Amino acid sequence: MPGSDALFAAARAAFDRALADYSHFKVGAALETAGGRIIAGCNIENASYGLTMCAERVAMFTALSEGHRDFRRLLIVADTAEPTPPCGACRQILWEFGGDLEVLLANLAGVTAAHRLGALLPSAFDQRFLR
Ligand code: THU
Repeated sequence: MPGSDALFAAARAAFDRALADYSHFKVGAALETAGGRIIAGCNIENASYGLTMCAERVAMFTALSEGHRDFRRLLIVADTAEPTPPCGACRQILWEFGGDLEVLLANLAGVTAAHRLGALLPSAFDQRFLR
């Protein structure tokens, strides 16, 4: 995918930092801000299992905590032949804070698929309903 080398490299580096001792399923994610900054995250598992945090939400929460508010793209890397799409919980959080992001899916060899977040989460619930 042209123009995604830096985003892929950041997500791939985060993949290597994943704490996935329970599932052994490592995931790396990298968000690109509207200003071109890249913020990465990896999945973080723990002995409670249920308190596991996905790579996509780690990336988004890190970016938000650093003050970023506008995002263009998210790239997700996993070691799978088929692209690994974001889970439902991540789609909801990404929609809330990232809107209709471009979502690039990759395996260790590179990007294999691209979607708009709106296509991955149709009829989303969001703040428009809280009136
Ligand atoms: N995981 C992610 O980090 N992102 C996804 O999109 C799918 C799943 C993580 C959560 C858990 O640590 C492991 O992958 C297996 O579900």
